[in-house]
Amino acid sequence: MKTMKKLRCYELHIFCYVLWAALVHSKHHGNPANDLVSIINDNRTAHKLPRLNDSPGLGCMALQYVELCKWNCTENNLVNCKPSEDDFTEVFAPNCGVELPTFGTITGQLVGCQKKYVEPPLAFSNILVKDNRSLSLLRNKSHTEVGVGMVGVHKGSFFWCILFSNGLTNSTFVLENRGAGIKQKIGCHSGSNVTCSEGEKIRVDFFLFFVSISSVVFSFFWQLV
Ligand SMILES: *[C@@H]1O[C@H](CO)[C@@H](O)[C@H](O)[C@H]1NC(C)=O
Ligand SMILES: *[C@@H]1O[C@H](CO)[C@@H](O)[C@H](O)[C@H]1NC(C)=O
Ligand SMILES: *[C@@H]1O[C@H](CO)[C@@H](O)[C@H](O)[C@H]1NC(C)=O
Ligand SMILES: *[C@@H]1O[C@H](CO)[C@@H](O)[C@H](O)[C@H]1NC(C)=O
Ligand SMILES: *[C@@H]1O[C@H](CO)[C@@H](O)[C@H](O)[C@H]1NC(C)=O
Ligand SMILES: *[C@@H]1O[C@H](CO)[C@@H](O)[C@H](O)[C@H]1NC(C)=O
Repeated sequence: MKTMKKLRCYELHIFCYVLWAALVHSKHHGNPANDLVSIINDNRTAHKLPRLNDSPGLGCMALQYVELCKWNCTENNLVNCKPSEDDFTEVFAPNCGVELPTFGTITGQLVGCQKKYVEPPLAFSNILVKDNRSLSLLRNKSHTEVGVGMVGVHKGSFFWCILFSNGLTNSTFVLENRGAGIKQKIGCHSGSNVTCSEGEKIRVDFFLFFVSISSVVFSFFWQLV
């Protein structure tokens, strides 16, 4: 009887360990917006163009952009959304806490959407930079900084936005309190180490978390009896 109990206990511990490993793994999934910034810079440097600075302010505004547009992806994966210049200064910047006097010039924007999530390299080549127009925009010499935002909505679509600017990262699109006040509900943006929250993934994480905690508690009581 005693060995039986012991065995069960080991089983449970292994079970917990596997669940925790799964949980940690899914947490380390990272921030695809940051990955896309690396892809952009790799593509530019391969063509002897300077790297772009990663601007959290631009990234946060790119996320605001896709949040506004998230329901406007057509059946053919076309973006049917056109935020106005006022949206940038009156909605996106205040939502991010961009200090208005530091609002710089946006020298380019690339937006794309798709019903299904694809990893950053495919989002780059198949959605965002898939023709000569977007490629020449990516390789424009005026850009000095970049920000990326991404959002996915359940039963909706995945939206990506890249914003370019010609400012100095230290003095344009400066975030109040270094961005500490940003309340990010969904999606993710570059220049931040907050991982991407996607409705579906979060639910799985919480499920795993719940199951793991329950099994820890259960195995604890098992040892007591
Ligand atoms: C999204 O699409 C709707 C319906 O076509 C349109 O009225 C609205 O202006 C679009 N939103 C933006 C921000 O362009
Ligand atoms: C690069 O971007 C700037 C600012 O948007 C624009 O004025 C210029 O025409 C672009 N250059 C090329 C080669 O497309
Ligand atoms: C840069 O991106 C373009 C467009 O997706 C692609 O055709 C090209 O091969 C890329 N260059 C490198 C060096 O990855
Ligand atoms: C895109 O640019 C390349 C090289 O500049 C050219 O060979 C190609 O024909 C262009 N494609 C289109 C569709 O314009
Ligand atoms: C930006 O700020 C950092 C530290 O705050 C400083 O080391 C760097 O030289 C600044 N860069 C520019 C271009 O002003
Ligand atoms: C982001 O990383 C910095 C340094 O690595 C850390 O101090 C900060 O707490 C992190 N922020 C979040 C939200 O994880």
